[in-house]
Amino acid sequence: MEMIIILLVLSYLLGSVPFSLLIGKWFYKIDIRQHGSGNIGTTNTFRILGKKAGIVVLICDMLKGAIPVVAAMLLDPNMHIFIPGLVAALGHVYSIFLKFKGGKAVATSGGAVLAYNPILFILLLSAFLVTLKFSKYVSLSSIVSAVLFFILSLVFRDPLLIAFSFIIAVVIVVRHISNIRRIMDGTESKITFM
Ligand code: G3P
Repeated sequence: MEMIIILLVLSYLLGSVPFSLLIGKWFYKIDIRQHGSGNIGTTNTFRILGKKAGIVVLICDMLKGAIPVVAAMLLDPNMHIFIPGLVAALGHVYSIFLKFKGGKAVATSGGAVLAYNPILFILLLSAFLVTLKFSKYVSLSSIVSAVLFFILSLVFRDPLLIAFSFIIAVVIVVRHISNIRRIMDGTESKITFM
């Protein structure tokens, strides 16, 4: 029981680390929350700080989700191994270091899914890329992948995974409400490189 509590607390703390904010402040003297969409995620990092910082933040944010799941696999703490990944994703959204504000959980959830089941990750990534290719909206692609995660989890017939993917899909959709509004009124920014 102690090990489970320690693992979940560490997962939450790791998920809470706002890498884009730290990299922006340390290396670019920019508070990313004051620019672009104001989000502390990978997309806004690419948008505001550029490719190099965007790739670093993508990797760090994905590791925040992947490391807790791998730790659960290795430690075998007698619980569903996806739980620490879910907790890390919630840490990213409700960060203890940002007065319980944060990002939209996409990259961190993606990292957790990658560590949990790489084939499932490839399916979700494919849906993300196809949606991005046709819409040019990262936000819409994130929403499609999050909803698809829930739909595909039904195939696994694992009630806990269904519950976790439902929570992630709801959190991701709710965190994208401002993006959905911008898509509807035509002001959401599009990517230019695909
Ligand atoms: O991962 C977040 C992405 O889906 C949208 O980011 O900055 O355009 O709100 P942003």
